[in-house]
Formats: sequence, C-alpha cells, structure tokens
Amino acid sequence: MTGRCEQLIASDTLKNGNDVAVEIVQGDLQDLPISNASMVVMNYTLQFLARDSRAGVVQNIHDGLVDGGILVLSEKVIDEDPDMEALLVDLYHEHKRRNRYSALEIARKRAALENVLVPETVAEHRSRLRAAGFARSAVWLQYFNFVSIIAIKSGQPASFADE
Ligand SMILES: C[S@@+](CC[C@H](N)C(=O)[O-])C[C@H]1O[C@@H](n2cnc3c(N)ncnc32)[C@H](O)[C@@H]1O
Repeated sequence: MTGRCEQLIASDTLKNGNDVAVEIVQGDLQDLPISNASMVVMNYTLQFLARDSRAGVVQNIHDGLVDGGILVLSEKVIDEDPDMEALLVDLYHEHKRRNRYSALEIARKRAALENVLVPETVAEHRSRLRAAGFARSAVWLQYFNFVSIIAIKSGQPASFADE
C-alpha cells in the first residue's frame, strides 16, 4: 500500500536534489504520535473526521510541535453567509467546467462528498486552533472555498524570508 508513495518520494521530480530522510507511516491520523516537530502539514484531511474528533487531533499536533513550530492546515470551508457560500460553490463549479469536467462528473463528486466531508467556517477552525494553544493563525492562501491556514505555536515564529 505504501509502495506508490515510496516510488514518488524516490522520484527525481519530488526529490529535486533534496536528500532529507523520509519515513512513511500508514495509519489513522487519530493514533499518530507526534513529537519534536517543527512543522506539520495536514491537507484536506481533518474535514473527513467526525467533528467531535477534530479538537483531539489538533491538540495532539499542537502538543507535538516545538515552540515556534507551525501547522499548515488546508481545508474546504463554508462561508457564514449562505449567499456568498452559494456564489463560491458556483464559481468553483464553473472553474471545473472550464477545465473540462463534465456536469455529470461535477454532480457525482458533489454527491460522493455529501455527509462525508463536513466543512466548517474559517472562524471555527481558528477558534479550535486557539483553544488547542496556537498563539496565532492566519489564512495564507484561498481559492474559492478552499483555504490554507498557518498556525504558530507560542514562541518566536521561524522566519522563512531570505536574509
Ligand atoms: C482529499 S484527500 C487529501 C490527500 C492529501 N493530503 C492531498 O492533499 O493530496 C483526504 C485524505 O484523507 C485521508 N483520511 C481520511 N481520514 C483519515 C484518517 N482518520 N486517518 C488518516 N487519513 C485519513 C483519506 O484516506 C484521503 O487520502
């Protein structure tokens, strides 16, 4: 099951001259021990957990980060304003149509995710991050209703800017 992942990591495209050691772990993220991490990336995955399980996962990540460590959390979100939410969904579907997805493919994907992917608002995510102990968070990327949030554990955040 992890073979494809190993192949991808060993490929020149992903390696890009980088020799950082990678250990692949397969399992339920709710049971994943995290310690001494500088950065955790969780892309479009929290949204598939039951809502009452999400706080425990975010707390585990927070507790496993070093001071000043960061979490990059990407999620599909829902807008508080139902009209804006409908507009964002329409714009996204239009974007997919322009990229040659058929109406049937779009409808099937939507039906498959209904009640499986339970999106929350950005405010709900940020409030959960704060409750877990993250000192700061911000949306650093958004397209339609897909966002990426960075959250920093207390302490001085690392700077990624060129000196
Ligand atoms: C939308 S995909 C995102 C995959 C990847 N992070 C990316 O950005 O391409 C959601 C992934 O979450 C995984 N997932 C859902 N619940 C999980 C859980 N409890 N533990 C580990 N992975 C889970 C699914 O298997 C799926 O691969």
